[in-house]
Amino acid sequence: MSEVVSYENKGNIGVISVNNPPVNALAQVVREGILNAVTAAQADASKAIVLRCEGRTFIAGADITEFGKPPREPGLPVVLDAIENSAKPVIAAIHGTALGGGFEVALACHYRCAVPSAKVGLPEVKLGLLPGAGGTQRVPRIAGVEAALDMITSGNPIGAGKAAEMGLVDEVVKGDDLEAEAIQYAKRLVESGAPLRRIRDITIDPATIEPGFFDNARKQLARRARGQIAQDKIVSCIEAAVKLPMDEGLQRERELFRELLTSPESAAMRHIFFAERQASKIKDLPNDTPVRDINKVAIIGGGTMGGGIAMCFANVGIPVVMLEINDEALQRGIGIIRKNYSITVQKGKMSEEQMEQRIASISGTTNYADIGDVDLVIEAVFENLELKKEIFAKLDRVCKQGAILATNTSYQDVDAIAAVTSRPQDVLGMHFFSPANVMKLLEVVRGAKTADDVLATAMQIGKKIGKVCALSRVCYGFIGNRMLGGYGREAQMLLLDGCTPEQVDSALEGFGMAMGPLAMSDLAGLDVGYKARQSRTDLPDDPKLYRMGTLLVEMGRHGQKTGSGFYKYDPATRARMNDSEVETLIKEEAEKLGIKQRQISNEEILARCFYPLINEGALILEEGIAQRPSDIDVVYVFGYAFPVAKGGPMFYADQVGLKNVYDKICEFRDRYGEDYWKPAPLLKKLAEQGKTFAEWGVENG
Ligand code: CAA
Repeated sequence: MSEVVSYENKGNIGVISVNNPPVNALAQVVREGILNAVTAAQADASKAIVLRCEGRTFIAGADITEFGKPPREPGLPVVLDAIENSAKPVIAAIHGTALGGGFEVALACHYRCAVPSAKVGLPEVKLGLLPGAGGTQRVPRIAGVEAALDMITSGNPIGAGKAAEMGLVDEVVKGDDLEAEAIQYAKRLVESGAPLRRIRDITIDPATIEPGFFDNARKQLARRARGQIAQDKIVSCIEAAVKLPMDEGLQRERELFRELLTSPESAAMRHIFFAERQASKIKDLPNDTPVRDINKVAIIGGGTMGGGIAMCFANVGIPVVMLEINDEALQRGIGIIRKNYSITVQKGKMSEEQMEQRIASISGTTNYADIGDVDLVIEAVFENLELKKEIFAKLDRVCKQGAILATNTSYQDVDAIAAVTSRPQDVLGMHFFSPANVMKLLEVVRGAKTADDVLATAMQIGKKIGKVCALSRVCYGFIGNRMLGGYGREAQMLLLDGCTPEQVDSALEGFGMAMGPLAMSDLAGLDVGYKARQSRTDLPDDPKLYRMGTLLVEMGRHGQKTGSGFYKYDPATRARMNDSEVETLIKEEAEKLGIKQRQISNEEILARCFYPLINEGALILEEGIAQRPSDIDVVYVFGYAFPVAKGGPMFYADQVGLKNVYDKICEFRDRYGEDYWKPAPLLKKLAEQGKTFAEWGVENG
């Protein structure tokens, strides 16, 4: 039939097999192959048609690499029409993940069977899109409007069992051989004279939908949109499924899909999809680099960070030993873990039994001798280089040969830590983000002597515990925290120049940041930055620098934990409120420092906060700290809640235009001096050449 789609009549059941590794994406050859096979099956002796896939999964969606290129015939809707209009029943046989266009193919079939481990879903929203081949019209017809809205706006896949309860799957098969089971199921359907069931023939009674349902849904989704525009259009499509006949609904869906496909938001989100996958690949490491077995892990330090990291491993069934200095600290640590799991149980996302199982896989000790047999140690004590060195010297004495020794430091020199051991090749940084059991990012920090198999193992185990991994070389703060310096600095400088805390934070939240930098400092504790600054000798001697943060700490306003910082907080709800006392204080300080306050635009706030980040990113690339510009984007989206719809700081800079970014930085340099605004040579070079970071990334392999 074609290289990737074959067709065979097996005992009067036509079997179409798709074989387009790795995920059977609906590339043009697949669409054409399925269309030809369905057409051929109409003319032979087959009584029904099974559509199945080879390899690890059913069709996992459109081929995302084709988006943005000129469309090639046949389009997916034509293929789905052929399936739906087949004179013989077509049965989808699902294993792995039937996602996006793949699930839409299955929905156009007359029946769907699946293995119990299969998942189905419409994740297009995660790419800034909506299902463009009938998903928004068929799911509400079969599973109901509310379920459809939830499934399509969340993009989260659903297991076969639940999908069967919702009517999205007709038969969950028992045996191991899906093809044989699907053929049997098809035969049973033929023998029982089962009709050609087309989801399009179902109509939804508009009277069953509460008045205002769609407007409420829009409002709720807008609250967490953070610059994403697809959710709103998905609501419009589902509304069309209720109010319009199928063909008109499909047409509406297609129009809105096309609008999204050319939107900058979707381009940014597709960039992040591929960036995430690329970030886990280490340029100079062959794909077949061996990895070490990780069957048991030790965590040094049972504080918030250590506890969160322990949970990551317990969640995937890897036993953990948590080491603390005394029993009291140990019990406190285990107590926090139990409390965190209990919240998940209360939300109905985990059973009591699962919680107990996970807690049982975390044991505690105060004795280093008890961790001699572990395969990986992650040190997560507070940020003190001497303490960390002491711990690594002990680990070197007690840990078995071949154990990987990782530090969760956010700033410290991984090479200096490795140097106190006799095995620096086994040492690296594994930098988790707080709360470690929730945040997706893991910065894997490569020391000068870290062995290849240690790096490969860290990347693999990171993926196993559900993290998105990005590689950094050693420098102060690695990729993420190093870049953050200028962002936080400018947020405070803007106050002296005339902004209120609210103005700064709202501008950045309006851009899509989950929380503005000043509110974030209040959450983290203003005293944390204050203490960190005291030990730094590299900061310019400038009374303006972090002036407001310093003053607030000295007034006892440490942020949320003391009830006030840049804002004041409602003691009961923790709601943040503007504080006129702070606003007056800012004005007084500006006057003392001789700063003439002025009106500042949101545009300037964004440039002042983001351009230092981008400039530092350029330095990080030049120095080889990050492997690629897109790795930096991954770090910011998954570790710092940079809006995915903006694609990360380096992608955003490319959209703004590097010449514009460079010119603005030069303007700020002329206004505020070189201490803070010194254009990175790479940024200057690319701006002058009219190039983008993305192009530089491709050229530098
Ligand atoms: N198109 C093109 N390439 C894809 C792809 C797709 N839809 N899905 C995955 N790939 C590629 C990945 O980029 C990766 O390539 P490399 O090995 O070169 O890095 C490879 O396939 C394997 O992917 P993963 O590493 O992600 O493998 P996994 O086993 O961890 O996960 C998966 C598999 C769950 C299918 C995951 O890849 C995934 O979620 N894919 C995207 C699914 C999706 O979004 N589908 C909807 C597409 S939009 C659509 O269908 C619109 C429409 O309505 C027509």
